[in-house]
Formats: sequence, structure tokens, C-alpha cells
Amino acid sequence: MAIEWSAEVGEFHLRNHLVSYVVRVLESGWLGHVYFGPALAGGKSYGHLVPGEFYGFSNRLGHPVPLEYPTGGGGDYRIPALAIELSDGSGVLDLRHIGHRIIHGKPALPGLPSTYVEVGGEAETLEIVAADHIAEIEVRLLYTIYRDRPLVVRGARIVNTGKAPVILRSAMSASIDLPDSDWQLLTLSGDWARECHVERHDLRPGRQSVSSSRGASGHQHNPFVALARPATTEADGEAYGFSLVYSGNFVAEAEVEPFGTTRVRAGINPEGFSWLLEPGVEFVAPEAVITFSAAGLGGLSDANHSLFRERLARGSWRDRARPIVINNWEATYFDFDEPKLLAIASAASELGIELFALDDGWFGQRNDDSTSLGDWQVNLSKLPGGLESLARKVEALGMRFGIWIEPEMVSPRSNLFAEHPEWAIGIPSRPPTAGRNQYVLDMSRPEVVDHLFEVLSSLLGSAPISYVKWDMNRNITEPHSTTLPAWRQGEFMHRYILGVYSLYDRLTKAFPGILFESCAGGGGRFDPGMLAFAPQGWTSDDTDAIERLRIQWGTSLAYPLSSMAAHVSAVPNHQVGRVTPLATRAAVAFFGVFGYELDPTVLSISERDEIADQVAFYKRWRDLFQRGRFLRLRSPFEGDRNETAWMTVAEDRRSAIVGHYLILSRPNPGPQRLRLRGLDAAVTYRVSLWPPAGEAEGRVAGSVILAGDELMSAGLVLESNRQSAEKGDFRARVYVLEAI
Ligand code: DGJ
Repeated sequence: MAIEWSAEVGEFHLRNHLVSYVVRVLESGWLGHVYFGPALAGGKSYGHLVPGEFYGFSNRLGHPVPLEYPTGGGGDYRIPALAIELSDGSGVLDLRHIGHRIIHGKPALPGLPSTYVEVGGEAETLEIVAADHIAEIEVRLLYTIYRDRPLVVRGARIVNTGKAPVILRSAMSASIDLPDSDWQLLTLSGDWARECHVERHDLRPGRQSVSSSRGASGHQHNPFVALARPATTEADGEAYGFSLVYSGNFVAEAEVEPFGTTRVRAGINPEGFSWLLEPGVEFVAPEAVITFSAAGLGGLSDANHSLFRERLARGSWRDRARPIVINNWEATYFDFDEPKLLAIASAASELGIELFALDDGWFGQRNDDSTSLGDWQVNLSKLPGGLESLARKVEALGMRFGIWIEPEMVSPRSNLFAEHPEWAIGIPSRPPTAGRNQYVLDMSRPEVVDHLFEVLSSLLGSAPISYVKWDMNRNITEPHSTTLPAWRQGEFMHRYILGVYSLYDRLTKAFPGILFESCAGGGGRFDPGMLAFAPQGWTSDDTDAIERLRIQWGTSLAYPLSSMAAHVSAVPNHQVGRVTPLATRAAVAFFGVFGYELDPTVLSISERDEIADQVAFYKRWRDLFQRGRFLRLRSPFEGDRNETAWMTVAEDRRSAIVGHYLILSRPNPGPQRLRLRGLDAAVTYRVSLWPPAGEAEGRVAGSVILAGDELMSAGLVLESNRQSAEKGDFRARVYVLEAI
């Protein structure tokens, strides 16, 4: 890994054995983007890669290079990275290189989550400083390259070096120009209960984007997009990934211009955003991770998974085995008392489940969703001994204890709202809009964050609490803070999320032993920003096994299995009413951070036996499920959409587990083979089905011995419905591969 600077030709070359990133300083001082892609040899100039006529009419007039951090008003009419309204009302910026430095390691971003380094020599950071002397604006562009990762982490800090305030209209985290547009834009889109569905469409002239203006990254689009060649598959072909380490309003956008080049930018959504930058003050944009893969979408996922798991998630739970949770939400909703909860916990502990998570409804007067958010005191009529007594009883059953909170919210019917109505977000002249009967607290106010820190610290310190599920069930309306002057209201949404980060930061530091799980009505804020504080998230409120195939497939494009909480729930499923076999529900939820979301006291004996086996199986293979290399094999978004297959492989490739799912049963099926990936071709594996033969009636008995090369080249012959007594729809097969 190296960051080379050639003063002679004015070129920066960030490179490791996987990727190169080249920036050129033109004679004028303009910063030109030259290249990001597969590694190029060092010690050479690549300035000739951008021919003049190619960009002639759509860039800074007469200067044949796409700008590294493009601005408007100077002949580049495409989407800018930076837009500033200067004190004279003009918006032209002309940034020229004035210096740079190379830093060992990677500096943290003030107030924002960011990736980091842990060992010396792991990464280097280039900071390029460019300035416009007329506008008196300085921009510090940050680029980190890690030794062994096919990616560059980018950031930008904007400083007002003048004497008058200016208004930031747009400050992207990254912008990059690619020389052609033969790409498809892949996004993770959907809505509540159907998050992260893969959309993949050809780029066409003009702009194509996904964004959020909800105050959270949102269920609708994830702050991850990829560009893939039309022929790119999971295993082969070129792809670029763009992830924004941010949980608020974002945009990720591609623009194809008339010469067929493509610009991609990612950052805070400029719509509704402005930031007054006083003289001498700096604005820090969140960071973006841009990844290149020549090994298909799977290569992008490999890079993101390991970066997010190893150098974005932090704290004592980063590398620890995550417990199997039972959550009482779908078992009880708001209707519970201590005996009912202890009965659930006791039955769960007999099944080997490790942590009991008490969901919504334990505080204030909360017996439905109309009241008490903000009043984080235990409801003594439901839990007469308080949280401590319940937690200790749960611990006596051999389990850990955790709770649900939704700190950012306040119910109109609550003591907190009665005392501090001004803390709820709203515009004084308008009636506020309630969502799920609740308002959002103004997290841009430091006193709100301080109050929440105090109340939640005393709560978390009051009982042996090992786990917290931090929920966020509505988006922001009437975005406005009464503490900000009129001309600063465009800052509100970003200040809100900075307040959320500040609270998360303080609480996770004060309670380093607690495992935090982020949630926003499921995956409504499942993003890299949250992962920096909560190493796992509730992937979706939809726990139907078949819907989860799509949700978990899409989520895994960007996020590791260790971040994806996945639970087995009761049937008929509460979201879609579908009845799926218990084994299938487990076979899907295994591929994530496994748990249960049902009432174990009402199970039949055979269901209890089955669950005990599932729990034991997951514990046996937990490391593989949470930390193995995840490979997607058959997509629920392609073909007839009737099948899904994926697998996880141990780092030493001596074990692997494959999940194959058939949605609707087909009559008289032909023999089917599934080609595996990521195994050791030279190793021989014992392949056995889970649950083992005998436990599931009619299963093909025993195991088979097969070589890695055969499994990858010829494929695994799948057990068919003909061979198994387990006929019917929604069937899963789980294969365990162990080296012999
Ligand atoms: C939404 C979450 O996603 C659910 O799991 C549950 O915690 C409810 N909120 C509780 O209100």
C-alpha cells in the first residue's frame, strides 16, 4: 500500500495490490479525477487517460479533465459535489490545489461515525487542500487507502477562510467520474416490511438517484448503491459500490452526460439542506466508502462486510459471539406482566436461548402505542418489582436480560411532553403531525441529548441489562427547531442526526458491556452510520421466512451477517399471514444473528424439540453464521423468483453451510445441481443435511463425501421433494460441509 505523489507531473496515486486511485493536479491547480479501478503499476503517470476532446463541452471550459470535487458555474453543468452561496449571492467556485499531506493511519471525523485503523501500517490517508482565493473557501479532501481492502474511504471538510458568512447548499462526501456509462445502477429499495429489495436498471442519459428526506436513511432506499456491468454476476465482472456512513437524509446519484461518461456522487441530500458557515468555521461531511470489485457483486460484499465488521463496528461486542435472543414483541405486544414474561423466559431458557429482550410497553402507562414515550420509568403495575427484579429472575434462569427503548420520541400523552412541549419538533405556527401517535424530540438541542443521557444512564445502570434495542418508529415532519434562527433551519436535519450520534456515543461509552441493536420499525435506519455504534440491527419487522429471503439477500449486498438480526416467529406470520414450516423459518434466520420472536409457552412438544435442535445447531455453527464469508448463489430477484440459495464459508474454508430454499413446490422436478463457491478445491468435504436423517422423516440417510472442486464446478446435487417426505411449499434444505 502506498500513496505516491509525483511533484513533477502533479499526480497522486493511492494504491494497494487491489485498487488504484489517481488524482491529477493540473498546471492551473485544478484537481482532476483520473482513475479509480483495478491496481495500476506505481511510479508512472496516468494523466493521458483523460483525452481532451472527450470532456470538452461538459466540463470547466477548455480544461480536459473531470474535476475531483466538482463545483458549478464554471462550465461543468453536471451534478456538483460542492455548492456554496457566497456573501455576494454568487455561487461560482474555483478550487485549486494549495497543499497536501500524507497521514499514517486515519483520522476520526469530529461528531460523525467513521471507519478506523487499529494496527500500525494498516492504512494511509491523503489530505488534499484546495482553495478558492476569491470566495475564500478551503476544501480538505480526505482519501484513506487500506493495505488489503479494495476500497477508498473519502471525506470532505469545508472551511470558510473569509470574513463573511457563506451558505453551504451541497457538500458531497464523494464524487467520481467514470469514463463510460455501460453500467447498471443497483439500489436496495422497498418500504416497511420489504426493505432492501434489489433494483437493477441500465443507466440512461440524465440523472438517476435514490435519496431520503425523512430524517433517517429510511426503509425506502438504503445509502448503498452499486454500479455493475450488465454482465456482472455475483461471482464475476466489474462493480463499484458506494456506501455513505450516515443515518440521515442522503443522496446517491449517477449522471450520464452526452459523451456517455458517468458521474456518481454520494452525500447529505442537498434538498432541504443548507448550512451557514461562519468565518473560520469548518463543516465536516460524513464519509463515503467507494469499493471496486472485479469479482462481481460478491466481491463488493466481501469488501464491505469485512470493513464494516472489523473497522466500522466497535466496542466489546464487535468480535464477540452474539447471543441468541428471544424477543417478546410478537408473543405479547403490549399485553404482559411479570409472570407472563418469566414464563416466556423460562421456556426459552429450557430451549437453550441465551437472552430475553423485553420489547415495547414496560414503562410509563404504556398499554398501547398512544402514550408514555419519554417516560422511561418502569410500569410497576406490570412489573411490580421493577426492571431489576425481573432482570435478576431472568438471570437466575441462566439468561441475560435486555430492553427496548425509543429515546428520540415523545408521546403527546406523557409526563415528558407535559413538562417540555418545546422539546418536540414542530413549527410553532402549525399543528404538529403525529405519527404512530408520537412526536419526535428535537435532538439538535444539546439539553435534550443531555436529558436523555441522564435518564437512560440511570435506567441502564439500574438493573443488569446486557442488551438494548434502540428503536425509531416514525420519520420527521415539520422539520424545524425553535432554537435555530430562521436562516439556520436548513441545518436542522443534519443537526438532528448529529444529536442522535452524540447520544449513541455517550451511552455506548458509558455502558461498554451492553450489546446495542439498532432498529427503526425494522430496517428504517439500517445503515453504516448506525453500525458504528450498534454492531447489529433489526433487519426488518417482516419475519416471514419467504419475505426474509429477499430482505436478507438485499441487505447482505452491503452488510455483514453479524449485523443482521433474524428471528424465527410464529405462524400464521403476523405480517403476511403465511404458514411456513418451522425448519424453513430457522433455515432462513440462521443466516444472520439468530433469535426468536414467539411465545415458547404455547408450543407443542415436537415444536419445542425442534427449536431446541435449532438452537443447538446454531450454537455449534455460530461463528460460521456470524463471521463466515457469505456468498449468494441463487437470487430471489432473478429467474422465476422461486428459488434462493446462499452459503457461508469459514475463513480456513474447512467448513461451510449452504441454504437452499424452494418457494413453491413444483411437480415432477428434474434433478438439480447447485454450484457452490468459495470452497477449497483441493479439500474433500463431508456433506450432510440438517436436520439429520431420522429427525426429519423420510430424509435421505447419511452424508456424502465430495471434493471441493466437484462441488464448485459440477455442483451439489440437491435433495428433491421426490426423495424427501417433506413435500409442500416453502421448503428449505440446509447442507453442512466439513473437511475430512
Ligand atoms: C417496531 C420494531 O421494529 C418492532 O420490533 C417492535 O420493537 C415495535 N417497534 C415496538 O413498538
